[in-house]
Amino acid sequence: MNTPAWSGTVNRRTWLAALASGMALPTATGATHRPEITLRFSHVVAEETPKGLAANRFKVLVEQRSGGRIGVQVYPNAQLYGDHDEMQALQLGAVDLVAPSLSKFGRIGLPEFEMFDLPFLFDDLNAVRRITLGPLGQKLLQGLSRQGLVGLGFFDNGFKQMSANRPLLEPGDFAGLRMRVQASRVIAAQMRALGARPVTLAFSETRRALAAGVVDGTENPVSNFWTQAMHEVQSDLSLTEHGYLGYAVVTNQRFWQHLQADDRALINQALQESLAFANQIADTQNDQALLALRQAGTTRIHSLSAAQRRRMHQAVKPVQQQLARWIGERWMGDLKLALRKV
Ligand code: LMR
Repeated sequence: MNTPAWSGTVNRRTWLAALASGMALPTATGATHRPEITLRFSHVVAEETPKGLAANRFKVLVEQRSGGRIGVQVYPNAQLYGDHDEMQALQLGAVDLVAPSLSKFGRIGLPEFEMFDLPFLFDDLNAVRRITLGPLGQKLLQGLSRQGLVGLGFFDNGFKQMSANRPLLEPGDFAGLRMRVQASRVIAAQMRALGARPVTLAFSETRRALAAGVVDGTENPVSNFWTQAMHEVQSDLSLTEHGYLGYAVVTNQRFWQHLQADDRALINQALQESLAFANQIADTQNDQALLALRQAGTTRIHSLSAAQRRRMHQAVKPVQQQLARWIGERWMGDLKLALRKV
């Protein structure tokens, strides 16, 4: 666990302020022009998450390096578009960059991305890298051209935890619960295998649905849980680490090809650096959010014993077999090969 620079009891606001001051980058000085090009980057999470911070860093790098000639407008928190319409907005050219979770590509005809949702697939982030940095990752990104899109890279949030108004330590604890899921058949199957009822909801609607009792629980890395203030509406968080949440940054082919080669290179370089930055800080963000959550004291936090985790793993094992056809048998074969390689 990384220890943040501040200590003592913190509330969410103090935590956000500390984070913002620690992470703040200088603003784009030396900007001599009004932007000739403005990139619109839309995402659904808070600014103080790995994705939010990566988007903001990307803005600073692009604006500094282009001397203000290229501007970046970041729209966090589903301000502009949410899960239901951000991909369509990108395809129509209403925004230029989005970074949906890998769980959200199945519904635009790329179910192979849902391989990342398979529960207990990755032992750690090194295993994730074997896919995202290898030929399989390249092949996944290339497939986006089928939808008129260009995949520019992957990055992490981290491992997901389960929350509800009860501890979720054994498969039996999920019985009858309505669990909010992203629009991923794999995640829906995972919840069914645990005895829960999956309910697909946009991220931006999740907290309200939890508060209203429309759903009973959900899963997410702690940074998303904390920055959406889900701790105010969930009494228990169980540290299951049962699955991975990562993202792909995607742009529109027409827009990308229309850029001057130098600008494309500048934007791509800034983006790759921002994604590397996100990967560096993602763990710390989740660790800090967990610490803040402990200090807020609203939510009981449960660790699983090795035996409990094994039983949960056992319960969701059939999902791999059940969803192999949806993900694609060849993709599954490539996935297994890639993960076996050390
Ligand atoms: C979710 O919908 O739970 C996540 O994909 C949100 C995000 O982008 O991290």
